[in-house]
Amino acid sequence: MLREFRLSAARRLKRKRQAWKNEFYQEVKDIARHPVVLRMKLYPHHGSTNCYQHCMNVAYYNYQWCRFLKLDAKSAARGGMLHDLFLYDWHTHAAKTGDRFHGITHPEKAYQNARKFFDLNPVEIDIIRNHMWPVTLFGVPRTKEGWITTLTDKYCGACETSRRK
Ligand SMILES: [Fe+2]
Ligand SMILES: [Fe+2]
Repeated sequence: MLREFRLSAARRLKRKRQAWKNEFYQEVKDIARHPVVLRMKLYPHHGSTNCYQHCMNVAYYNYQWCRFLKLDAKSAARGGMLHDLFLYDWHTHAAKTGDRFHGITHPEKAYQNARKFFDLNPVEIDIIRNHMWPVTLFGVPRTKEGWITTLTDKYCGACETSRRK
């Protein structure tokens, strides 16, 4: 009896996650197909993962967690997709520009790029500008979705780096 209940709960959760996966792509597809966003594919990020794939990973986990917690999953996914839209290779950025504080400066750069091409709501802005907390000491998230992004970003970054070949 208990086993059957557990199995049907697991099946229901699996179906729900599959449905959320499909809904996720519908919510971000205009961003994911935008030429400026596609440029992130040119820039390596963590390990063998490029910037575009990293943003897609963060957006996906943001969406799943925020759906589960009944938060603004759509904004969490869209903000996640844009959170690293700084559009350069950070590995060579310091040598080329003299900016040795990429970790601190790139959220603002990503925000300035994103606002040129997309209408951003306050949750999306919070996600992009404050995702690097605690590295950006005073850039503290103001929304629950922003806090979730500080975790999903670091989780995805760690997974991507550990898959380095
Ligand atoms: Fe970032
Ligand atoms: Fe990131």
